[in-house]
Amino acid sequence: MATRRRPSSSAGARSATATARSARPRRIQTLAQAPGPARSAAEAIELANRYGANNYKPLPVVIERGEGAWVWDMDGKRYLDMLAAYSALIHGHRHPRVVAALVEQAGRVTLTSRAYHVDVLGPFLRDLAEATGFAKSLLMNTGAEAVETAIKAARKWGHTVKGVPADRGEILVCEGNFHGRTTTIVGFSSEEKYREGFGPFTPGFRRIPYGDLDALRAAIGPETIAFLVEPIQGEAGVVIPPEGYLREARRLCTENRVLLVADEVQTGFGRTGKWFAWQHEDARPDILVVGKALGGGVYPVSAICADDPVMGIFRPGDHGSTFGGNPLAAAVGRAALLVLRDEKLVERSATEGAWFLGELRRALAGSPHVREVRGRGLFVGIEIRKESGTARAYAEKLMAAGLLTKDTHDQVLRFAPPLTISRKDLGWAVERVAGALA
Ligand SMILES: Cc1ncc(COP(=O)(O)O)c(C=O)c1O
Repeated sequence: MATRRRPSSSAGARSATATARSARPRRIQTLAQAPGPARSAAEAIELANRYGANNYKPLPVVIERGEGAWVWDMDGKRYLDMLAAYSALIHGHRHPRVVAALVEQAGRVTLTSRAYHVDVLGPFLRDLAEATGFAKSLLMNTGAEAVETAIKAARKWGHTVKGVPADRGEILVCEGNFHGRTTTIVGFSSEEKYREGFGPFTPGFRRIPYGDLDALRAAIGPETIAFLVEPIQGEAGVVIPPEGYLREARRLCTENRVLLVADEVQTGFGRTGKWFAWQHEDARPDILVVGKALGGGVYPVSAICADDPVMGIFRPGDHGSTFGGNPLAAAVGRAALLVLRDEKLVERSATEGAWFLGELRRALAGSPHVREVRGRGLFVGIEIRKESGTARAYAEKLMAAGLLTKDTHDQVLRFAPPLTISRKDLGWAVERVAGALA
């Protein structure tokens, strides 16, 4: 056993020792004294601010309970959840079948790592293959991890299959992209706030304007291995590319032996009224990246899905994750897919989304504050005119009226409610939005 070295007497070591002493954990007395959540909204916010990093700016509401499309704050006030965890809650809060699958699995086995086989993984992978139409999947946990996995797959494919010299493959990405928060991913973001101070970044990416086929055509070169794109840019403000963009991008990628990588972490599993947003233009990608809704609103589950020519590049030891594809994830993911199918949530997204968009457009037609109402399925953005202030102010107004949404990129209010939401609740939302914006 190694012997412990005495601290040196240098000034640096002295101050490090002092810091270590002050940060030494003390007995956690509050756990024993007051188990359970905070006792008031004020206490919840105060504790989160005092002990948490300052990396989010939540609306000042403290949610205590959720069911379906609704949540309740600590004072018992009810809100319609029209953000649904940035689209991860497609099934609504605590869908009974998803929760039952979670509980049942938790009563048997929760985690084994991929060092062993588990009984639930195979059936989940089979169902995922059926749902996505891709032969194989590689499971991870968060969306960003799945995007990282897609990048690794594309790079290795580029070198070993396409024959691009090692470490030279280039991936094209779009202005306004959002693919997560790892250092590699923020390195190719066009949003200065996401990048500032976090460099140096991973090379091998080139940004081109979103929705611009000429730019894509011009950017593709002999070392281009992949085009990574969101079929609709969610975080950028529900930005829908021009008609035909994805179809032609698909064609260009095929023509040039470039992998089309569709990031459907936000748009996947029915959000836009189709199982996947690429289906609106029949632009089947080579790699499909999914996450969020696959976890049924209770657990992080993400994946890349591809056919053998791409997935075949992985060998044991190449890539992995301790939690990726664990039994809880498999049980929950499978239940999430079955509920989507059985409750026809994709079809609901198409019909209810069309109705919601139409009603919003009608209600806001004369509004001096609204620049545009756009959307596809139950994925809607309302763009606020700059002269009318930021979207944040309207999100707060809506919160006071009992409707939760969130501003994105200063001017857009994003609506991505659970696909289980009733028409009555959607109508209720339209009235609240009209009250705040008309
Ligand atoms: C298109 C897209 N990709 C990736 C991510 C990252 O997912 P996660 O936050 O689970 O890492 C997001 C999150 O909003 C997203 O919208």
